[in-house]
Amino acid sequence: MIGDVIGQSGLKALFAGLGPLVRSSGADLVVANGENAQAGFGIGKDEVDKLLAMGVQVVTSGNHVWEKPGAAELLDGTERLLRPANYPPGVPGKGMVALEAGGAMWAVLNLQGRESMYAIDCPFRRADELLARLREESPGALVLVDFHAESVEEKEALAYHLDGRVSGFAGTHTHVQTADERILPKGTGYLTDLGMTGPDDSVIGVKAEICIRRGLSQMPIKMETAESGASISGVLFTIDAESGRCLAVERVRA
Ligand SMILES: [Fe+2]
Ligand SMILES: [Fe+2]
Repeated sequence: MIGDVIGQSGLKALFAGLGPLVRSSGADLVVANGENAQAGFGIGKDEVDKLLAMGVQVVTSGNHVWEKPGAAELLDGTERLLRPANYPPGVPGKGMVALEAGGAMWAVLNLQGRESMYAIDCPFRRADELLARLREESPGALVLVDFHAESVEEKEALAYHLDGRVSGFAGTHTHVQTADERILPKGTGYLTDLGMTGPDDSVIGVKAEICIRRGLSQMPIKMETAESGASISGVLFTIDAESGRCLAVERVRA
């Protein structure tokens, strides 16, 4: 699982680095969060196509996914592009997809937090509903969760709520990788935040001087993506396909 890909520098870093990472790790499934892929805010068809062409099999997203014109059509028309599943009923797109990879059936579930974010539907209850449906439709599927959220408490709580029902659970949205990777008591692999795949010389992917001016002035100065060299951030979950249990969790920084 790869953290928020930020603009051109993030796309370039992933294009150069993903192949070697997949080859060295033997990863069967690659999921990347693309909510910031178009110039830092939102995603368009071009970025989805690029991510899929470079070996990402499912593109997840979050609060920024709505920002570019055509987002609704793109979400409705792209099987492997998700938006958080707990947006209210009737919203374009979907939050879960099932697919086959490496000889196993998988489902990727994208959810979004509510603490210090938006008052969308409950991620806990939506996850329960979707996992119950998945167990009927595809009983042995291995499940990965991208929980796009600000609050560490909310991330850990949802992960424990889903422990033993999903194989891997990773947070996104803060753009800073955490160092708390572990396997929860019932076998779910966990990392609070994957971090970003974006410019190293930046404030969460944005030019530092803009964020300083925002802090000093408290004015909503327009953010612009920084353009320094970039790193890939993510996590590698090793999963037992029979039991669905996570056997190892390794942070990835490349
Ligand atoms: Fe993001
Ligand atoms: Fe976000």
